[in-house]
Amino acid sequence: MKPNEIDFDKLTFSFTQTRSMFVAKCNLGEEWESGELKPFENLNLSPAAVVLSYGQGLFEGMKAYRWDNGEIAMFRPEMNAKRAANGCTRLSMPEIPSSLFINGVKKVVRDNADYIPSTEQGALYVRPIIFGSGEGVGVAPSSEYSFIVYVSPVGPYFKGKLKPIKLVVTKDFHRAPLKGTGGVKAIGNYVPGMLPSSIAKSKGYAEVIYLDAAEEKYIEEVGAANFFAIIDNKLITPELTGSILPGITRDSVIHLAKTKLKLEIEERRISVDEALTADELFCAGTAAIIAPIGLISYEGKDYIFNDGNIGKITNELYNYLTGIQFGTSEDEFGWMAKI
Ligand code: PLP
Ligand code: COI
Repeated sequence: MKPNEIDFDKLTFSFTQTRSMFVAKCNLGEEWESGELKPFENLNLSPAAVVLSYGQGLFEGMKAYRWDNGEIAMFRPEMNAKRAANGCTRLSMPEIPSSLFINGVKKVVRDNADYIPSTEQGALYVRPIIFGSGEGVGVAPSSEYSFIVYVSPVGPYFKGKLKPIKLVVTKDFHRAPLKGTGGVKAIGNYVPGMLPSSIAKSKGYAEVIYLDAAEEKYIEEVGAANFFAIIDNKLITPELTGSILPGITRDSVIHLAKTKLKLEIEERRISVDEALTADELFCAGTAAIIAPIGLISYEGKDYIFNDGNIGKITNELYNYLTGIQFGTSEDEFGWMAKI
């Protein structure tokens, strides 16, 4: 689509094709090539590509913002580069160098700058993917890997900006076991969530809350966002045990709560029973930003938080985070990378 064909005021969290993408390859045992910008096009991939049978691949999710002063900026991209590199190791793929990752991301964002909505309308979602593109039939690492970055203008992930969402705790499905791949953005982590998510949506919930796979007692994550509770002026969030994705928004929220709101932080296990006593609840991620949780359904009963409204601390954290991301407040932690 051409930028002038897009209604930027009506963006949703969906894919719109843009001008270009970045592509780099790597043969097993060799260095990554430096890569190049190309027109956006379909891939030429063998049906025997290892990613198609065995899911050897990961993705990242980032946003580029167009500030009111015309500058384009991204939020902590070096953190995504680091997480992708860790994921490569876990998924037996050659580690992506941070310089290649950042260079690919910047090139695509710059080349598609006219697709970036204003911060009131949304952002340019940046989707780097790394996967085994070589052929193979045995369960073994691919002989060739591809790193691709594409972008899409997006609006909000959850409908209704800052409108508290309704979630349902599931005991029918787990997202990730301990010592599995939940701690990296493996592509295979996401398809198992589609069925629980669509069941939840058919019943009027925005997403599912997953519990720990061992005891079904402690909260892990909300679909594709990290979980937070405010109890007695403390910010409590599940500790990173390996089955939870180390969110970059999560890290930033913890930092903001500590430094700006002077809250005590507890990274530890939090049971559903404890969470249901919280003063405020929210979830956070790149796509979701900070989404207040107004209702949780657990074992057939509904629990309402803050009378279904956004909590004070949640709102403050949202304002601090988006102030930095949208360029309306000072970037005091040096989080924004100008593109
Ligand atoms: N948890 C999962 C499973 C995710 O997919 C994401 C999104 O990337 C997050 C949490 C939030 O992570 P981040 O804040 O880095 O986007
Ligand atoms: C993100 O927050 O960027 C994600 O990756 C979530 C998603 C799976 C849409």
